[in-house]
Amino acid sequence: MLYIRLTLLPFFFFCCLLIDAKSQTIREEFTLEKNWRFTKGDKPEAKQKDYDDRKWEVVTVPHDWAIYGPFDRSYDLQQVAVTQNGESVASTKTGRTGGLPYVGIGWYRNTFHIAQFDKNKKRVSLVFDGAMSEAHVYVNGKEAIFWPYGYNAFHCDVTDLLNADGRNNVLAIRLENKEQSSRWYPGAGLYRNVHVISSNNIHVPVWGTYVTTPFVSEAYASVKLKTDIANCGEVDVRVLTVIKDGEGKVVAQKDNTLGMHHGQPFEQNFIVDQPNLWSPETPYLYKAISKVYKDGNLVDEYTTRFGIRDIRVIADKGFFLNGKRRKFQGVCNHHDLGPLGAAVNVAALRRQLTLLKDMGCDAIRTSHNMPAPELVDLCDEMGFMMMIEPFDEWDIAKCKNGYHRFFNEWAEKDMVNMLHHYRNHASVVMWSIGNEVPSQCSPEGYKVAAFLQDICHREDPSRPVTCGMDQVSCVLENGFAALLDIPGLNYRANRYEEAYHRLPQNLVLGSETASTVSSRGVYKFPVEKKTDARYDDHQSSAYDLEYCNWSNTPDVDFAMADDFDWSMGQFVWTGFDYLGEPTPYDKDAWPNHSSMFGIIDLASIPKDRYYLYRSVWNKNAHTLHILPHWNWKGREGQQTPVFVYTDYPAAELFINGKSYGKQVKNKASVESRYRFMWMDAIYEPGEVKVIAYDDQGNQVAEKKVVTAGKPDHIELIPDRTALAADGKDLVYMNVRIVDKDGNWCPAESRLVKFSVSGSGKYRASANGDPTSLDAFHLPQMHLFSGQLTAIAQAGEQEGMLIFEAKAKGVRSAKIAINVK
Ligand code: GAL
Repeated sequence: MLYIRLTLLPFFFFCCLLIDAKSQTIREEFTLEKNWRFTKGDKPEAKQKDYDDRKWEVVTVPHDWAIYGPFDRSYDLQQVAVTQNGESVASTKTGRTGGLPYVGIGWYRNTFHIAQFDKNKKRVSLVFDGAMSEAHVYVNGKEAIFWPYGYNAFHCDVTDLLNADGRNNVLAIRLENKEQSSRWYPGAGLYRNVHVISSNNIHVPVWGTYVTTPFVSEAYASVKLKTDIANCGEVDVRVLTVIKDGEGKVVAQKDNTLGMHHGQPFEQNFIVDQPNLWSPETPYLYKAISKVYKDGNLVDEYTTRFGIRDIRVIADKGFFLNGKRRKFQGVCNHHDLGPLGAAVNVAALRRQLTLLKDMGCDAIRTSHNMPAPELVDLCDEMGFMMMIEPFDEWDIAKCKNGYHRFFNEWAEKDMVNMLHHYRNHASVVMWSIGNEVPSQCSPEGYKVAAFLQDICHREDPSRPVTCGMDQVSCVLENGFAALLDIPGLNYRANRYEEAYHRLPQNLVLGSETASTVSSRGVYKFPVEKKTDARYDDHQSSAYDLEYCNWSNTPDVDFAMADDFDWSMGQFVWTGFDYLGEPTPYDKDAWPNHSSMFGIIDLASIPKDRYYLYRSVWNKNAHTLHILPHWNWKGREGQQTPVFVYTDYPAAELFINGKSYGKQVKNKASVESRYRFMWMDAIYEPGEVKVIAYDDQGNQVAEKKVVTAGKPDHIELIPDRTALAADGKDLVYMNVRIVDKDGNWCPAESRLVKFSVSGSGKYRASANGDPTSLDAFHLPQMHLFSGQLTAIAQAGEQEGMLIFEAKAKGVRSAKIAINVK
């Protein structure tokens, strides 16, 4: 038979049809992106099919209704004692959820068509990658499903609710976010994709395959594929599966016919010779393409992408991927994309991962919820190991209106969806069942942990399970930590050794580490190691010595990984700054409304700390980074420490030619193992130079920072030179002001205005200042420490995207990006 893949039906976006020779549609999949109608506020009648929504706003999904602000102190004020931060007295928390209007009810409506619809022969499902939150879904006026957890994907069979001709089906969705339902900015609305899948009666259902690699060696690997087949009754079914390598070559195939009497998934086993093993360094992927036949007719075709790799956790020795021990060099991230909010965008996610990759990061923890599928796909493709984590709350509340309201009824359903959705992904190497849940210390808490871990083992016996635990004394005593496959400790590195000795697993994972805080380009004097430091300007020092009372500097976590075999590495809190949780400025400290934990700021500009991690983690490239900047008018003659982050073992500092001495990494303190610190450096305008030396004392690299002169012009540095003409691709433009010689002016806070013309539009901007109230979506933004990021979005037409930036008193800049 001949199969033709058609794409792009005029009225659907990203529509995909599989058609056999007799022109019978086998499977049709498309996302509903354009022409949604949206309104805020409750409109119970809007579920009706013939409701007039013409006055509603027209939006494109993914859509986050709250990201347009404006920021306001009054949004979601929370009167709480954050017990996990050691608080016992309630206080007013400002900006905890980002100071954005995510609370409330919102409605979305759209229409979809199913080609060649026949109620008796077809099944149609809707898949929501995530809807924030408490989603009631109506199709043609009838409720199709309710799904409360805003982070999880869910699906429903809507065949029986469709119009007989398959056309003009009205989809209406009511979403509601309650106040005090989150500890960070959750986003609001249909912030992830909505898929429509139409198949034959007999079909592979949503997330209907499960692939594992039970044996992996360099010579060969075994691949086991289990395929659910819906509605096949008790008849014989034939499944022809081919496995294709990354180049599309068939490397294995099986053609089996099986009576489905046992009600089990259809199982096929393959051998792939000389497999290309998946790892963060070699993210090689295969595809299993299965054709399902009944009575000689093709009824479905289903593709499962997977990787071949072996994961093992060994007591005393740690985590092994493909037989090689590695320590997780991971970061925790929340799901928001800074100025884009929670609305998922592949280019934005790719930008995040690109920066993290260059830092040497190899793992992501999706704290503390299910990720967007686009992120998991990218981690497969770009090479990141993932810890996927569903919950921040179980049955005991952390937030008044948090997930605990649903836990008892929904936890298992949420777990099963997460596990089925992501268990075929090579990147996913472990599940976490929760984060710092209060149940850690409750007498029955271990039972809940066992219940959740058992669901993971039942649905996916191929991966270990962890949990992020912060109540170390409780969990070491009460059996909670002992029952997990991998004990994960959040912070408390000083208790790792004790935990290692006391726990039967004889392993410790740093499931959450550091919580070092800093503001990009802001340096505080005198330079001191401090917990919970607060300043009048509501910033934290970028010397990377400030952290929370429960946490530590990054150096401590490096040392744990370097010194102990049983230490499995870490997931830093956090890779990127996120909206909400503005610690240490969370107690009535408006206007702070975004985090300071990020290694990279909210504008996706690396802070100095990025280079500290890079100097330890990136083994393929050298790092030589100097801080602070060298524009300190008024500090002439004063002590202004200079730090250098580098992988080289020794370095010498010169200020205007005068040597401040050569330093060699040493164990005098945990910081001096990983950074050079010239604490007695004296500021004078001019040039700071560092020369790096190798083990033999040879000069191998050099770097300079100079005092910038008067601001002269704007400089634009785009992260991409060409974009795809898909209406979604993004260019991140680093916007900075420089002097006449091109030296960056770090004190600049001028307002910059943008315009975008040609094939694209302005999308958003951010400056990384956690106190900034500039709206992201307006085409202007103040610089913070001399920089900001403006994001432009490709159009759907090929051509040039012209981006222009202007600011008072300096020359403007213009740049063209090819959209093709
Ligand atoms: C942890 C928590 C994170 C975040 C972090 C800040 O206790 O798991 O979600 O709140 O603290 O340090």
